[in-house]
Amino acid sequence: MSTLGFLLFFFTVTPNPLTVSSSPTTSTTTNTIPARLLKSTSLRHRPSSAPQQYFELALPLESVLDRPSCDHPIIRHSFANTMNSPPYTIPYSPPQPSSGCGALWSRAILEISTSCRGDQYDRISALWLGGVELIRTSTAEPTADGIFWRVRKDVTRYSSLLSRSDLNVTMMLENIVNDEFTGVYNVNATLFFYKDANVISSPLIRKLASNNVPLRGEGINLGLGGAWSLYGPPADLIIPISRNEGGGGFWFRFESELDTHARRISIPSNTKQAVLELYISYHGNDEFWYSNPPYSYIRANNLTTGRGNGAYREVVVTIDGRFAGSEIPFPVVFTGGINPLFWEPVVAIGAFDLPSYDIDLTPMLGFLLDGEPHEFSIRVAHAIPYWLVDANLHLWVDGDSQSVQAKPVIYDAPAIHVQRSSQFKQLDGLFEVEARRKVRVAGWVKSSSGNLTVIVSNEFKLKNSIRFQANGTRKVVKQRVRSKRQTMIKDEVGGIFRRAILRRKYPMTVITAVLPEVGGIGGDNYTLVANVSHGMNERFSGGEFSRSVHNQQDSDGWMLVKGHEVLDGAATTRQSYSYQDGLFCYFRSVAASSGWLIGDNSTFTCASSS
Ligand SMILES: *[C@@H]1O[C@H](CO)[C@@H](O)[C@H](O)[C@H]1NC(C)=O
Ligand SMILES: *[C@@H]1O[C@H](CO)[C@@H](O)[C@H](O)[C@H]1NC(C)=O
Ligand SMILES: *[C@@H]1O[C@H](CO)[C@@H](O)[C@H](O)[C@H]1NC(C)=O
Ligand SMILES: *[C@@H]1O[C@H](CO)[C@@H](O)[C@H](O)[C@H]1NC(C)=O
Ligand SMILES: *[C@@H]1O[C@H](CO)[C@@H](O)[C@H](O)[C@H]1NC(C)=O
Ligand SMILES: *[C@@H]1O[C@H](CO)[C@@H](O)[C@H](O)[C@H]1NC(C)=O
Ligand SMILES: *[C@@H]1O[C@H](CO)[C@@H](O)[C@H](O)[C@H]1NC(C)=O
Ligand SMILES: *[C@@H]1O[C@H](CO)[C@@H](O)[C@H](O)[C@H]1NC(C)=O
Repeated sequence: MSTLGFLLFFFTVTPNPLTVSSSPTTSTTTNTIPARLLKSTSLRHRPSSAPQQYFELALPLESVLDRPSCDHPIIRHSFANTMNSPPYTIPYSPPQPSSGCGALWSRAILEISTSCRGDQYDRISALWLGGVELIRTSTAEPTADGIFWRVRKDVTRYSSLLSRSDLNVTMMLENIVNDEFTGVYNVNATLFFYKDANVISSPLIRKLASNNVPLRGEGINLGLGGAWSLYGPPADLIIPISRNEGGGGFWFRFESELDTHARRISIPSNTKQAVLELYISYHGNDEFWYSNPPYSYIRANNLTTGRGNGAYREVVVTIDGRFAGSEIPFPVVFTGGINPLFWEPVVAIGAFDLPSYDIDLTPMLGFLLDGEPHEFSIRVAHAIPYWLVDANLHLWVDGDSQSVQAKPVIYDAPAIHVQRSSQFKQLDGLFEVEARRKVRVAGWVKSSSGNLTVIVSNEFKLKNSIRFQANGTRKVVKQRVRSKRQTMIKDEVGGIFRRAILRRKYPMTVITAVLPEVGGIGGDNYTLVANVSHGMNERFSGGEFSRSVHNQQDSDGWMLVKGHEVLDGAATTRQSYSYQDGLFCYFRSVAASSGWLIGDNSTFTCASSS
């Protein structure tokens, strides 16, 4: 979190919201808007004083239908004034056989249930088991009547840890509670274990789907690559690439592009598949990294904002100094972001369950199987303060052999290609970035399953433009990210054994304008009108299984702001989520206006393909 651990807002001039200056020296432009905003408790008078439920749209979870074999509470804790304190840590034990789970479960869901009442900023949070991150989440800003929400995530891929009894479970949620900020986050984390492995073919879900019974409530987040992943059954072993236990949680903190964090790891010599999973979030001056202009613009206009360094960022992983993979993260907007009224009660895509990102390292096993430690290192290209990143190394071992042979045969990882253009006159201008990377790595792996050649190719393209108009009072940010990851496995005679392709697109447009009326220009009161439109679209195909997820959210509205407080405003958010695989479809569309859900339709009917 930033200087004071705050997560938050758009275009700041004041790095520390607790000491907000009431005498800005320059006029209000989109560059001088505070980074974080808090809804005034007097903003909205609700007819009912019952706590309100918040949610993020996702695929309905089977727990809505089938009963889990058992539930297993792992954390019950209230995060009050926790800033600069160590994370909450307790020993973990797997469910007892008497609980109905035994060792027979085949699917595990983590549910985090949170409630909060009062005034509070949004906060970043994560939960680790034995230093391996299971979820990165953020909180919603509460109201005087209180709010609550539940996040559910499929954590089956962490099964090898869930059955251990020698680990601690740790949750970090830095919060400030004082006379001004009163919201305490009450958190319950529970694991649900299921015996029925195949959710999608569950007869009950099929039956409900065929009768078109709408499913309500929270869904399960597929994330990117998600529950039905490319890599087969859960890994045998997961090694954290995270910070040693200490005051600040297990995530590594990156303040600049010079920061690298590394771990030396020896992997078992019978490893036959390796996948690195990255967890990423961005804060402080880089919370809205996709909307940061270059420093040249900030300096030329004598702006005091620290939100610069242009708009392209990339999390890069190297092994022994050799490029191993990279990721341009999906831009998650936290609930205090841009206009807090957009994210009630439906939060932005990914805000309750930030995506993690997988890099298939299998073709590089030839570099790693010598029994020696190797250096796994992470950095964030062009980062400014600050990023929180860690990684989990998922390893599959050959149960029938003490050693696996492997050798890389193609290693083609040219440098990233980045093109920038920048033109401005005083506060108006246009800044563009285009970045492209294409990497191909192949290697053979000879295990008891045969001698397989694994060819992994990854490519992405980022296009970003930031335009300032009307003397810097209007800003239009457009970003398009496309990526394609492919894993192809060939047998000894060159036949294709397996092939999986994951394509993703994250379009985003953010338009903000400061209005000259309402004491706008010149005072510390101003009105901001904003439009945010973003999506996460994913297409996966792997042999017989294919699926697509299309998730789109569009918000518009205005707010009157004084200092960091939103005094008045109105906002509308519409979202549609659709999931489709060969057998199963789900569609839900919701609309919310000024804090109320005004429409909510869902169906299991597959739209005709026309
Ligand atoms: C543009 O904004 C700057 C600083 O905010 C101000 O000094 C200047 O007068 C403005 N120019 C016009 C044409 O409004
Ligand atoms: C946590 O669980 C306890 C006991 O079941 C319950 O009283 C409390 O309301 C729960 N809190 C949340 C935030 O779900
Ligand atoms: C679990 O946490 C306790 C208290 O922080 C610590 O003493 C212990 O060493 C930890 N155990 C493991 C396995 O990390
Ligand atoms: C920025 O500050 C310098 C030095 O104080 C001054 O010469 C220049 O005119 C200022 N530029 C703008 C755009 O205000
Ligand atoms: C595995 O297959 C590759 C190409 O198919 C071959 O070059 C290599 O020698 C084989 N490895 C072993 C140990 O047989
Ligand atoms: C700021 O807004 C408040 C509330 O609308 C209003 O009373 C006050 O006059 C405004 N101040 C300025 C400088 O416009
Ligand atoms: C936001 O979108 C609405 C409706 O699409 C449009 O009328 C409005 O002009 C947009 N606002 C801005 C600041 O571009
Ligand atoms: C829900 O369906 C009704 C009837 O078709 C439609 O009028 C409404 O706009 C839909 N609402 C949403 C949020 O999609």
